[in-house]
Amino acid sequence: MLVVGLGGTTRPDSSSETALRIVLDEAAALGAEIVRFSGDQLRLPLYEPGALHRSALAQEVVDALRRADAVVIATPGYHGSMSGTVKNALDYVEDLRDADRPYLDGRPVGCVAVAYGWQAAVNALRATRDVVHALRGWPTPFGAAVNAADGCLAGGVCRSPELQAQLGLIGRQCVEFAAVAST
Ligand SMILES: Cc1cc2nc3c(=O)[nH]c(=O)nc-3n(C[C@H](O)[C@H](O)[C@H](O)COP(=O)(O)O)c2cc1C
Repeated sequence: MLVVGLGGTTRPDSSSETALRIVLDEAAALGAEIVRFSGDQLRLPLYEPGALHRSALAQEVVDALRRADAVVIATPGYHGSMSGTVKNALDYVEDLRDADRPYLDGRPVGCVAVAYGWQAAVNALRATRDVVHALRGWPTPFGAAVNAADGCLAGGVCRSPELQAQLGLIGRQCVEFAAVAST
């Protein structure tokens, strides 16, 4: 089982990347193979519809998502919604329009949004789930809206046992749903 994680910011150890890693760690602990795109790997060219060539990195993202059994998306809350960087990466899913499993069809998608306030965190989580629906994915029942203003994800570690458990649950739901979907 392959779980592909995408998100964070281009800043190493950003709080949203930390959240992504925790979700993926749980999926790995349950036996999944993990591929993560975060940090510098988010520096993709602006998505160009119909372009004949993709950058090597963009192609890697598309190929990984094509093979994914489950996906995890973690976005920072920027100006009340998901970040343009994460959205640009997700725009590349358009290249899977004609794939055997188009877009994210039939795949569970764990969603996490991290902001410095509840309003943006909740809105960004909702926006991410809307995008997942549009891509024909199945947002996991549990998603996490995280207010990181209290330092709960500072320094690349999770300082809240409750949040750690919530993020782990998302990883577990991705693996469990993917296992059911493959039978
Ligand atoms: C361009 C930009 C816009 C932001 N907009 C908001 C916002 O509308 N509401 C909010 O609570 N935080 C906002 N933030 C703070 C981010 O949500 C915060 O940095 C988030 O926790 C992601 O942190 P990270 O860079 O450690 O992943 C913004 C940050 C940036 C850089």
